[in-house]
Amino acid sequence: METIKTDFLIIGSGVAGLRAAIELASYGEVLVVTKEVLEESSTEYAQGGVAVALSDEDEVGIHFEDTIRAGDGLCREDAVRVLVEEGPDRILELIKWGAEFDRIDSKLDFTLEAAHSRKRVLHAHGDSTGKEIERVLINKVMSYNNIKRFPYSMTIDLIVNDEGRCIGAKCLKDNEIHYIFARATVLATGGAGQLFSRTTNPSVTTSDGMAMAFRAGAVLEDMEFVQFHPTVLYAPNAPQFLLSEAMRGEGGVLRNIYGERFMERYHPQAELAPRDVVSRAIISEMVRTKSTHVYLDLTHLDSDFIKKRFPRIYRTCLIYDIDITRDRVPVSPAAHYTMGGIKTDINGKTSVPGLFAAGEVACTGVHGANRLASNSLLEGLVFGKRAGESASICIDEELELLQVKDEENHITVDNYSEIRTRLRRVMWERVGIIRCNESLSLARDELKSIGEAVRGSFLDRRSLELKNMHQTATVITETAIRRRCSIGAHYRSDYPSREGCMYHIQCKTDEKEGILFTTERVG
Ligand code: FAD
Ligand code: SIN
Repeated sequence: METIKTDFLIIGSGVAGLRAAIELASYGEVLVVTKEVLEESSTEYAQGGVAVALSDEDEVGIHFEDTIRAGDGLCREDAVRVLVEEGPDRILELIKWGAEFDRIDSKLDFTLEAAHSRKRVLHAHGDSTGKEIERVLINKVMSYNNIKRFPYSMTIDLIVNDEGRCIGAKCLKDNEIHYIFARATVLATGGAGQLFSRTTNPSVTTSDGMAMAFRAGAVLEDMEFVQFHPTVLYAPNAPQFLLSEAMRGEGGVLRNIYGERFMERYHPQAELAPRDVVSRAIISEMVRTKSTHVYLDLTHLDSDFIKKRFPRIYRTCLIYDIDITRDRVPVSPAAHYTMGGIKTDINGKTSVPGLFAAGEVACTGVHGANRLASNSLLEGLVFGKRAGESASICIDEELELLQVKDEENHITVDNYSEIRTRLRRVMWERVGIIRCNESLSLARDELKSIGEAVRGSFLDRRSLELKNMHQTATVITETAIRRRCSIGAHYRSDYPSREGCMYHIQCKTDEKEGILFTTERVG
């Protein structure tokens, strides 16, 4: 056991955590804890780009309107205003720090993605935008002597004092527990994609931050809203690899197994309809044609352009014998992004004093019921900086060290792989793109039974992750049961109407009830 002291603790090294760390470097010593190498995060794999109102044809007001429309009425407008207004400065700053976004001649090249009414998505090296952003932020972090890094370390739980203030976190590194005490803690652990058997997310996104914050007494909001990306590779032995929405933005079309285009039958914007609409249309088409997938077709586009515009996707698909310039690509939807999360204000403050959150783990309300494509990298930059700014005020707080009592008898989850597979299948099949009371109730029962297997005190990464996944899965399922209507990414076949759906669901842990739910009406 080891005790570490720092001024500011950042948990997670994606776009939000790194941006928060850079902000805090002016105020004191910063420690960035992360599960694997610094780069390993959803940020690193982001393809399509980052949305920002910087082109000559665009305005922040139009970006605002598009974000609100995609969010289906449930966005918190103050958060959206902050995102679109501060976004341009965050991107220009990133360019100043060395980010190389693609250009045509010397002008930034903006592309179109679904539900955007303007070309406003900046991209880097064609389809490696996240990697470029991560590279620049890591370089910047490395330039500060007072930002220390703690890789291959999994945070197990937050440390909360008797007054309910977060004073740091307990962390597992090289099979040893480390107690990290800090004046302020920023959670930036990303989303919950790994809860679903089909997902675009890397293996680190097991919802640890949401589960830790929940256990520490923080309020979670709108957890039922999970975004499913429409086009994820569906091929034997191939990974669940994303085929960027930008491919449809550049003219790619969707076809069913009979080669027919179908999106016009579902929405006037066809392939560029909001993501939730496209995902549900694909599922309907798969059911109608009794198939496991549909096709993304780019074969009518210029092949040199495709290779240059999507080099990473082109190379990856070739490994699986798919030449995207000549072959239709088999795709089906997969879990992609968590709109809900730890409730924060627009400055990253959670309901637990001393605890801040930013990025996908947080819920500022900026995405409402459905995130507009390419708004999350921007969210990480804007709200990462803001969370850092507001955490900086804690520099005057006393650094409190607490004797933490620990369980001594640690066990590991028996049949770990089997239980993890079961949990992910339950979430995909019963709490996925189309839900109903019957499927959700079955999920509730199955999660209760899985709960028996993940009870206990663990000290190995896999068991700890599974416990977190189970906790978050339970919260998502319970909130989905309570929202008896359909809005944005939450679709109930037994309650298809949007009527009466204008509310947020908040929840927190409760000794008596287990989970205590409250609703906040909108408008
Ligand atoms: P992440 O980037 O996921 O980082 C989370 C960090 O927390 C990681 O470093 C992880 O290791 C660490 N962590 C997690 N748990 C723990 C723990 N217990 N202890 C210590 N560390 C922990 N968005 C866009 O805007 N544009 C795109 O083009 C785009 N494309 C995408 C493509 C893919 C394949 C994926 C998966 C997502 C994409 N997104 C895109 C979404 C976007 O990438 C993410 O929402 C965003 O990067 C999240 O950033 P973050 O900093 O909140 O979390
Ligand atoms: C993509 O490239 O399709 C992902 C964009 C996003 O998730 O915002």
